Amino acid sequence: MAQEILEIIAKAEGDQELLDGFLKKAKDLINYDWWGMYILNEETNQYEVRAKSNEAKKIETNIDFLIEDGIIDWVLRNYKPRFISPITDNLHFFIIPIVIAKKTIGFVVFKISSKQAFNKNLHSLSLQATLLGLMFQGTMYRESVWDKVNKLKFLMEIAQKITFSTNVDRLLESIMEVLNNTVRTKYSCISLLDENKKLILKKSSDFKWPIKPTEVCYFVINHAKPIHISDFKQDIRFKNSMEPSNLRNVLSFPLKTQNTILGALTLYNRLGLPDFTKDDFIFLFALSNQAALAIKLISLYDELKKAYKETVLALAEAIEAKDPYTRGHIERVTRYALMLAKAMKFKPSDIETLEFASLLHDIGKIGISEAILKKPGKLTAQEFREIMKHPVIGEQIVKKVSFLKKASIIIRQHHERFDGNGYPDGLKGKKIEKLSRILAIADAFDAMTSERPYKKRLNIEQALEEIKRNKGKQFDPEICEVALKVFG
Ligand SMILES: [Fe+2]
Ligand SMILES: [Fe+2]
Repeated sequence: MAQEILEIIAKAEGDQELLDGFLKKAKDLINYDWWGMYILNEETNQYEVRAKSNEAKKIETNIDFLIEDGIIDWVLRNYKPRFISPITDNLHFFIIPIVIAKKTIGFVVFKISSKQAFNKNLHSLSLQATLLGLMFQGTMYRESVWDKVNKLKFLMEIAQKITFSTNVDRLLESIMEVLNNTVRTKYSCISLLDENKKLILKKSSDFKWPIKPTEVCYFVINHAKPIHISDFKQDIRFKNSMEPSNLRNVLSFPLKTQNTILGALTLYNRLGLPDFTKDDFIFLFALSNQAALAIKLISLYDELKKAYKETVLALAEAIEAKDPYTRGHIERVTRYALMLAKAMKFKPSDIETLEFASLLHDIGKIGISEAILKKPGKLTAQEFREIMKHPVIGEQIVKKVSFLKKASIIIRQHHERFDGNGYPDGLKGKKIEKLSRILAIADAFDAMTSERPYKKRLNIEQALEEIKRNKGKQFDPEICEVALKVFG
């Protein structure tokens, strides 16, 4: 008999062949109607079906019944294959426990049509079942290891996304993406507290009910710790909840940093497994902590940015106070420049640099004498040379502030011309930063369309005509085209 098994293993070309050999032998020996092989998942402590014949529904209902009734357990405890006729004379099973070193790792159930007697050939079938069981257990471990590796990979990816994330919405999107690829559930949601301590649903999948104070999310926030509910319907703490009646299990985590609770991450009804596992818990705990930290950092960063912008605005106003003819100029130039950059689909960080650069583009005028700035008539060549220093002075002032370093270059180049006849460096074409080329058009457009003591204002059509005339000379032709559309 052992010889026979060894031959089967030696000749088998793969897992499928081992399985086919086993089933052929079983068909010959007991002429089964259908069959199923279950292997113990040590993480969930549940038997999971790993192979079976095609009548899926019938098999699962029958095997569930055999498990629930304790019949499987009874067979497993005896470590021996058995014929069983549990209810009527018409329902017969042959059950083979898969036992390795006195440890049951699974079982095979065959549904047969008639009662049979045990014969010694069935021992070799049982050995083959053990072999198959080992094979499936190996696959299961491999899957479990891969599952862990994948989760770790996602966690690292999210850590990276979080580090570079400056936008809460995009961050939450990445988290939902991670969830969909790791711990699959029927419903999931991320909710954040607003200023009034009310939970607002930010991202969700299939989640359609309102978040009321009786819900799990609020419970988690009020208790400031995670919760795992294995049988939701039986949990009296949520008997007034509006959550749907088909909820089985729930896992919810507060999104909290050291001393602030920001919201909750909640998952409902684990898919693919009967309940959430210890691994799910550890993974999601790490994920929610990381998410909370990132949300906090983003909001701190946003506050900081707001404070920066206010400082920059105050500085910008200081220039206008010095040069009263240009009142409103900075605000308008900034608006025009951003309109162009947005139309040209620049990325948010570039748009931000351009915003700072526009607000501060003439800050160098702080270093120019008021007599020249306020002079009503035409400037002399000497006076004009003085004025021409303002882009460099501006750059010198601004570059000392680390978050304005990029903007300082844009400021230096805002009077360069596309044809190379600008100042201070006489840069030509694409040698000039693109953001400076945008700023140059925005600056000129506002200068043309506003009244100055030494010149009359042009209307929009005239200004656009002027831009068209200077296409490829003073201005970048590509940006000219955009300006004609955006300002027209
Ligand atoms: Fe300027
Ligand atoms: Fe200007």
